[in-house]
Amino acid sequence: MQLVTEDNITDLAVQRWATAEDPRLAELMTALVRHLHDFAREVRLTEAEWMAAIQWLNRTGQISNEKREEFILTSDVLGLSMLVVQMNHALDPRATPATVLGPFHIEGSPQLGYGEDMSQGLPGTPLYLHGVVTDLDGTPVPGAVLDIWQADNEGLYESQHADVDEARLRAKYTSREDGTYCLRTVAPLGYTIPMDGPVGELISRTEISHFRPAHVHFLLNVPGYEPLITHLFQEGADYLDSDVVFGVKAELVVRYDQREPGPTPDGGSSDVPWFEARYDFVLQPQG
Ligand SMILES: [Fe+2]
Repeated sequence: MQLVTEDNITDLAVQRWATAEDPRLAELMTALVRHLHDFAREVRLTEAEWMAAIQWLNRTGQISNEKREEFILTSDVLGLSMLVVQMNHALDPRATPATVLGPFHIEGSPQLGYGEDMSQGLPGTPLYLHGVVTDLDGTPVPGAVLDIWQADNEGLYESQHADVDEARLRAKYTSREDGTYCLRTVAPLGYTIPMDGPVGELISRTEISHFRPAHVHFLLNVPGYEPLITHLFQEGADYLDSDVVFGVKAELVVRYDQREPGPTPDGGSSDVPWFEARYDFVLQPQG
């Protein structure tokens, strides 16, 4: 029988977890054990700190539900989500870069037509965001579904409104035969990540800015192309250089042009001043 000591416990735990039948799982678990043990040794983790961490993880699970993903938020603010995105989406430089999914995507958004309004009369400056979906060579991609979501003018997502049970500021638009798409919404504002949970509790003990610059989220899952999860940010927005989830890339910052009342890109017109933003999504073929 081998007695457990502070010196051999890491090797023993690694040996046990190396028995995982799936070789990749064995690789992941043995590396996790080594790094966790190294971490505990490096900081000389106390029992009180260990318990505080366990309780923090418990609270993070307890506050999560089908609409709130506190563990994703944890990964986002630690920079892990963006690191994983960067490692797994080394796209052609011509392709639209990928970013984090974030914790607020909801499945099953309603399908809207070209230029239809996803803001349902919510307050804010109308924003028409339009362009073309193409492949790397500029060939239009018709039938691409753009799954879109954003915060309201108080910086809150649908899942943060306990009283909202219908789709709010989220929709799916489909590119036309010539690859063009056009969505109508209200200009998003920058917002704070939720500070009423375990992540906020930690952040508030640091100098970290808990804000995100104004943005709209996009998910394009088009057969034959690499799935694209990304954001578009408003040029000149606050917090572009301190995004708490590390999501900003220069290629994803778009200009909002102020327009007077009059014709809009969908062929309609606006009675009030509105913003026009243009962005062409470039998809990378799969494989
Ligand atoms: Fe967001």
